[in-house]
Amino acid sequence: MTTAKIAVLVSGGGTNLQALIDAQNSGIIKSGRIALVISNKSDAYALERARTNNIDTAIVRRAEGVDIEDQIIKLLDEYEIDLIVLAGFMCILSEKFTSRYPERIINVHPSLIPSFCGKGFYGLKVHEAALEYGVKVTGATVHFVNEVPDGGRIIMQKAVAVGAHDTPEMLQRRVMRQAEWKILPEATEKVCREIVKNSKKR
Ligand code: GAR
Repeated sequence: MTTAKIAVLVSGGGTNLQALIDAQNSGIIKSGRIALVISNKSDAYALERARTNNIDTAIVRRAEGVDIEDQIIKLLDEYEIDLIVLAGFMCILSEKFTSRYPERIINVHPSLIPSFCGKGFYGLKVHEAALEYGVKVTGATVHFVNEVPDGGRIIMQKAVAVGAHDTPEMLQRRVMRQAEWKILPEATEKVCREIVKNSKKR
């Protein structure tokens, strides 16, 4: 294997997906290639970003009668995916799913884990909690995904200063710009490089 095949799972705007696409285009990601974008929301703007860049897309829905995770597994098998990147994917994956892909699923979380993470901490809620607590430094974390929400091994973290007059939206944007959009592509390349290296040992 010379490049790992990546699936990106999304639910919303997809700015992190955009950062991954940009990193692929600029050569920051060179050991992997985004082969598929999967969304659990049919109106996610992230899907537009994928289509604009000629990346295959798929929508998974509970209404189809088949379990969402089973739909995802089928797609991952079909595309022979090596690495799953959760980029603003707002569903908690079951142990049945995560145990199938040990150290093959990574997630970006908008805080310095173990602060402001776990069940109920997602999106803007994370930044609201950080401001409520009064921390002066927050940031982002990329970690492997296991059965514990936000509990897998940490791959990369980056700290970001909290401004005295920040709103949750201001803080979210700064954490994205200064941390998430940098460490998600870097961590993706790091993990892809390992996957490719290990495939050659076999
Ligand atoms: C990002 O801030 C990401 O870290 C967060 O949702 C946002 C998605 O934005 N994820 C979580 O909170 C997961 N627990 P995007 O769709 O623009 O990438």
